[in-house]
Amino acid sequence: MKFFLDTAIVDEIREVNEWGLLAGVTTNPSLVAKSGRVFEEVLKEILGIVDGPVSAEVISRDARGMIEEGERLAQLSENVTIKIPMTTEGLKAVHHFAKKGIKTNVTLIFSANQALMAARAGATFVSPFVGRLDDIGQDGLELIQDVAEIFGIHGIDTEIIAASIRHPMHVTQAALSGAHIATVPFKVIEQIVHHPLTDQGIEKFEADWKKATKA
Ligand code: E4P
Repeated sequence: MKFFLDTAIVDEIREVNEWGLLAGVTTNPSLVAKSGRVFEEVLKEILGIVDGPVSAEVISRDARGMIEEGERLAQLSENVTIKIPMTTEGLKAVHHFAKKGIKTNVTLIFSANQALMAARAGATFVSPFVGRLDDIGQDGLELIQDVAEIFGIHGIDTEIIAASIRHPMHVTQAALSGAHIATVPFKVIEQIVHHPLTDQGIEKFEADWKKATKA
């Protein structure tokens, strides 16, 4: 499973990019609003940092509007991935971009059927939202397992992005459930680097080293 960062905050992307494991970035309108930046400006900056797909979400509700927005965004870089909500209009737009070889990420996926339909329309990525399903008492990771199983049975090469990740166990479970990618908020990716025994171990090695090298 690969790691994407789920943020529009450039400093977070710069930091994680230096760790050497960042394979892409996902943004959404809420994350862009939180960054306090102008969408296309921040998108260009992100594209200059990350060597991988960067999802940029369209706002239009109709296919024609989605296509117009998406085509403009796609001109910025071949790494731009047009993020499109799972609707009938969205499927039309996905189909259009697939014919043109432009990458798409179908977002707000909450059922296996939605994921299958998005894949068949030509989506490069589908994004099942794990945390938002957990929030309403359903098992978000079970959805990842189902989608992975269906894609496996039918030889579908659309990649599954486990989205709406809220805590470290979501990351482990997404990997075990067959997600190709987890798009992880900065707070969670920082959490999963650490383990208390690693930190204690470093302290102990340092203390012992100081003792041993004392004259
Ligand atoms: C996915 O691409 C979305 O940006 C994101 O994961 C949504 O997460 P949330 O449910 O925490 O808003």
